[in-house]
Amino acid sequence: MENILRNFFLFMGKNRAATKMAKKYGLRFGAGRFVAGASLQSSIEVIKKLNDEELAVTIDHLGEFVDNEQEAREMTDHCIDAVKGIAESNLNSQLSLKLTSMGLDISRETVLSNMKRIMDAAREHNVFITIDMEDETRCQATIDIFKELKSEYDNIGTVLQAYLYRTVEDIQDLDSYNPNLRLVKGAYKESPSVAFPEKSDVDENFKKIIKMHLLNGNYTAVATHDDNMIAFTKEVVKEHNIPKNQFEFQMLYGIRVERQRELRDEGYKMRVYVPYGNDWYGYFMRRLAERPANVAFVLKGVFGK
Ligand code: FDA
Repeated sequence: MENILRNFFLFMGKNRAATKMAKKYGLRFGAGRFVAGASLQSSIEVIKKLNDEELAVTIDHLGEFVDNEQEAREMTDHCIDAVKGIAESNLNSQLSLKLTSMGLDISRETVLSNMKRIMDAAREHNVFITIDMEDETRCQATIDIFKELKSEYDNIGTVLQAYLYRTVEDIQDLDSYNPNLRLVKGAYKESPSVAFPEKSDVDENFKKIIKMHLLNGNYTAVATHDDNMIAFTKEVVKEHNIPKNQFEFQMLYGIRVERQRELRDEGYKMRVYVPYGNDWYGYFMRRLAERPANVAFVLKGVFGK
């Protein structure tokens, strides 16, 4: 049953008609639990509250299905506005973005020139940028763009996914760049030809890459809600005397909120990933796919008023 629901939500998240409807009607169905707001201003208020609680943030302007130059330029402008908003409000926040929103599917020139505009603004305002990782078909292109930008800009990192077979090699390959990497299990529906189908194998690979990246001496953001992975990270850093400024934990806005505060209270750096924007629908569907139990919150949002 859980698998059917997962596939259903992933399918719905890619449905263009539903995405259009969602944009038109604004944050609905309990999505406000996972999305800070439709505008940058509303998300700034959320970030301020999180920062007041000593939680660091990374914001993400949500966007899906960008397939023309103009939309990619508009998404780029949104990111530049977010960088400026972070600086003007003096927020403890980074920015996360997806290369498809900046034109990855249009051309290499488009995505690179849009990214350089964002990176110039980010450098000027001292804001760190993380390139989220999308589905496997875009993994190599994302890593290539990351490498190119990293040779020009210090303030950039990206994400690797434990469910892909290739990731151990990517960790080794990227080591010479001393990258700041966010490590995750992986959120997309992938074929067994490229990704571990068994959750236990994903978990083992997650542990492996966490340890490798930390022991390589690189900054590691362990982005998970899974207590086993958190406990494993704590063990590795203790055993190898890894300083607290070489790693952090990250969780999504609205998920395991109390656990986020507990880790902060234990003295760990805790960063909350805060999505915002009109295009909340696809993101929301992926969160439901990940944990169909969240549907209960949605039903409350719809019927519980
Ligand atoms: P998983 O979903 O396996 O959950 C493990 C355990 O965690 C559960 O069994 C439960 O005990 C606990 N748990 C999880 N959710 C809970 C809840 N709501 N309440 C209580 N307990 C809960 N993916 C990607 O492909 N590209 C990317 O760029 C990113 N970026 C990203 C940033 C950040 C900050 C995070 C946290 C995640 C991502 N992801 C991502 C998503 C990631 O790949 C993954 O899909 C989700 O984090 C879910 O995997 P978990 O590691 O959280 O564990």
